[in-house]
Amino acid sequence: MPRPLIVAIDGPAGAGKSTVSKILARRLDFTLVDTGAIYRCVALKARRQGLALDDDARLEQLLGTLDVSFHVEEEVNHVFLEGEDVSEAIRTPENSLAASQVSSRPVVRAHLLDLQRRLALHAQHGAILEGRDIGTVVFPDADVKVFLFANPEIRARRRYEELFEKGHEKPIDQVLSEQNRRDREDSEREVAPLKPAADAVQLDSTDLPLSEVVQRIEDLVQSRRRG
Ligand code: DC
Repeated sequence: MPRPLIVAIDGPAGAGKSTVSKILARRLDFTLVDTGAIYRCVALKARRQGLALDDDARLEQLLGTLDVSFHVEEEVNHVFLEGEDVSEAIRTPENSLAASQVSSRPVVRAHLLDLQRRLALHAQHGAILEGRDIGTVVFPDADVKVFLFANPEIRARRRYEELFEKGHEKPIDQVLSEQNRRDREDSEREVAPLKPAADAVQLDSTDLPLSEVVQRIEDLVQSRRRG
């Protein structure tokens, strides 16, 4: 069987990866693999077990029995951890911070490589993987690679509005400083830091409407399909 077409979308938090990937996956009928959600599930499981987030031996045990799956329902990509819908629980501020911490552990990254690849290679038509190191580490030979970014203030404003809509009001300065901290941790870690792949198409979404970002990536996919 030929390998499904692999689309890697990397970039910092708030650049629009999730929204863009969801729309594209629906348009192209591709499988969506939200790799950040997998790191978030590891963090949630570790927190529920009361583990120290740098206890590699216990993390390794936990990873051995990790069961994460996705199910799209009414246009929402639900995330299941051991059969429980944890879509909301993995996105709390506490869990976001914990996800960033566990994602810096080499043992966690190594273990999740195989899972991310398997989820994508099982796709029927193609797979869109969104994350930080898809084009550099998970699929260095991806068919399409995009690095999506935007200036930090715009990204913080988008996050602020998203939180506000969910009823969680937080000063924008605090959103920005938490985001800066996560950006720093993601970019400075030793293993698989956030950086564009040398052959990625870099897209700045600061002043681009969502529809335009989606269209540009879809054009890349279509031109790749035409060979
Ligand atoms: O995209 P996100 O905010 O849901 O990701 C959660 C955390 O996981 C974030 O701190 C970055 C990390 N992550 C990573 O290190 N590598 C990935 N491929 C995806 C996410």
